[in-house]
Order: sequence, then structure tokens, then C-alpha cells
Amino acid sequence: MLTINSNRLNSRLQAFAAIGETAKGGVNRQALTDGDRSARLMLAELAWARGFRVFQDPMANLFVWRNGLDEALPPLLIGSHLDSQPAGGRFDGALGTLSAFEVLESLEDAGTATERAVAVVSWTNEEGCRFSPGCMGSTAFSEGVIPGTWQEKLATDGAGFAEELALTLASLPEAVMLPLGFPVHAYLEVHIEQGPSLEAAGIPIGVVKGIQGTRWLDVTVTGQTAHAGTTGLAWRRDPLHALTAALSSLYGTVMPEDPDARFTIGRIMAEPGSVNAIPEVVRCTVDMRHPDPGRLDEIEELARLRIGREAERQGCSVQISRSFDMPPCAFSERLQQVIADAAAACKVESVSMLSGAFHDALFVNRVAPAGMIFVPCRDGLSHNEAEHVEPSDVITGCEVLAQATVSLLGSRI
Ligand code: GLV
Ligand code: MN
Ligand code: MN
Repeated sequence: MLTINSNRLNSRLQAFAAIGETAKGGVNRQALTDGDRSARLMLAELAWARGFRVFQDPMANLFVWRNGLDEALPPLLIGSHLDSQPAGGRFDGALGTLSAFEVLESLEDAGTATERAVAVVSWTNEEGCRFSPGCMGSTAFSEGVIPGTWQEKLATDGAGFAEELALTLASLPEAVMLPLGFPVHAYLEVHIEQGPSLEAAGIPIGVVKGIQGTRWLDVTVTGQTAHAGTTGLAWRRDPLHALTAALSSLYGTVMPEDPDARFTIGRIMAEPGSVNAIPEVVRCTVDMRHPDPGRLDEIEELARLRIGREAERQGCSVQISRSFDMPPCAFSERLQQVIADAAAACKVESVSMLSGAFHDALFVNRVAPAGMIFVPCRDGLSHNEAEHVEPSDVITGCEVLAQATVSLLGSRI
């Protein structure tokens, strides 16, 4: 058994939570911002202090490398992400990245030589909230290329993707550049569940069998701005009226009729945004989730139909585009067994479960066997500043990761 240092891990989590800390005790460290760059630098400095090598790739994915005896062997990759939601918690991403780094340090503390290298990865822009889509770093890694369409992308705050990526890469000039995508032995990621089931069941470890599908839409409804006081119903072409009517009927149908469906409007904007003017344009995002990709098609079709119909009714036009399409994935059964065995070796109960949230592991799973270890979070709350994981659950998750890492290092997959 590899012994991890509990105090070191819990104090590291606190130190990283101070980067981008919000007044309510959460974190705002969105992808490719100064806060994100500071977190990457902190991880790199911790790595150099332990004598590990630090690499980045053209997507600013960051790798902390502990050499193996045989450098020809593909590394075992462990990690998660350091970017956050705008009003995010202290654990979403940081938990997995710092647990992985703790495993690396524990291997070093124990003086354990490993045949293959073990590398901690922090993927760029998992969240997808500042620049869409999510999981940009792991997507590009798995495809071996940065999609050309990303270069022109603008952040929610107006910043350009290409510029912010260049600044991020330049902020760690000592990190040696690796090509995008390289052979990987296997990938393990610890993450908070971000939902209520583990806490409700009183089970400390979830062995993730797969991830449900996600699809995002960008919706623009265009009408005509006009005076709020003088424009009677017959003269209005109100895009907000159209959109809210459509959304209200979708809220009343999609989730009530299908308990496995998720339907969320997380961002909505009216322009010009004046109290006494009918909006000219209304934009919103749609986040749809379902374990069955066929159902995602149906929900998207329903959304397009209803928004189109209400827009027509209000004399408005509509544009709808997909900004993200992530089919569900099933993780390697072998890795699920390794994780379940690791939990048993740590003498903790585990349960097999599907992830409602998407993760970088979904993309890595396309190029190497991937597995995920979930730990409970308080009240199932995540993407919320109040997100909380009990220190004892942090440690259990890291111990299971350590055990699974050691067992993967000693075996063929
Ligand atoms: C990940 O952040 C997700 O939205 O599932
Ligand atoms: Mn996450
Ligand atoms: Mn998240």
C-alpha cells in the first residue's frame, strides 16, 4: 500500500482554493484567465520543488512527470482540471488534480521506482463556461489537433481564445513543449460526484461505469426593438416573449416526462437590454443531458420545433447551432475492476454508477483505457460556491487512486 500524506493534500486544496477565491468561499478561476495561469504556476513550482519534470502541450494541458525506469513505455496518466465555474467550488477539478499530485509525491516519498512514468495532468478548459465547448484540452489531446474553429472563439467576457491560450502558454516558459497527444497507458481521474447519490447512500467511493451524453445549443431569436410603452400587442415582434413561451413549454415537458433527461438554460441575454425597450435580440444557451443519445436527438428536435413555432408566432426569426455534442461513453471494465479492487483493498465500500456530469476522462477514453473515482459532496451540491467535500472523503478518494495507480503500474491492461 502506498501511504499518502493527508495533511499535505488537504492543505494543498486550501492553498489552491485561495487562487480566485470568492467572497462566499468558492472559486472563480475560469479557463485561460490570470487565476488559471496562477494555479498552473503553483502546480509547476510544487513539481519543480520535488524534482519532477513539467511539460505543456499546444493546448496548455499541463503535465507533471515522474520518470519511469523505461522511458519508452507510455506513461500512466492521472489528474483532472484546475479551471472553475464563474461561481464554482473548491473541489471541482482541483480535487482530482491535487489528489493525483499527492500520489506522485507519495511515490517519491516512498522512493518507489516504477517501470513506466507516472504523469499528473491538468487539462485546459474542462468547464466550457468562459470558452465553449468544455473539455477543450482533452478533446484536442485525443484528436491530436486543435480544431481550427476554436481560434476565432470569444470568451463570455469578450477575450479571444487564441490570445488567451498564447498568454497561458507564455506564462510558463520553462515548461517544455510536448506534441499534442501522445500514447498513454491508462488514465485515472478522481472527482466529486457533483450529485447526491453517494452521500445519500453513505458510500464513500463511486466506481464510474460511464458518462451520460451532453449536447449544448446556442439559440438566437431576433425580433424588433421598439418602445415598451407605445407598441401594442399587434405591432410587437418580441423575441423574449417567443423564447420564454417556448422555454416554459419545454420545462413543462422534457424533464417531467423523462426522469433521466436534464434540460437547463444557464445563460440568457436580451439586447439592447433596456428597461423600456422591447429587445431586438435574445440569446440563450441550452444544456441537455441524457444517457441515451437517441433521446438527446429527440429533445433537441423538440426544442428546435417549439422555439421555431413561438418565434414564428411573434414574427421573429431564429438561429440555433450546436456548440457541443458529447455522446455518452462507457469506461473500461478492466479499470472499473481495478478501482473496485482498490476500494476493497482500502477497506471502503464502493458502488458502480453513471456520471451525470461530463469529464475529461470521456475524451481520454477514446485513446486509452480511462477510469474515474467519485467521492461524495455535501448535499450533492456542485457548480456552487458552497461545494464541500469532507476531508476524510478527500483522503479516501486519494487512497483509492493511489492503490489503483500502484496496481495499474504493476499490471498489463
Ligand atoms: C461539467 O462541468 C459538466 O457541466 O458536466
Ligand atoms: Mn470537473
Ligand atoms: Mn465542473
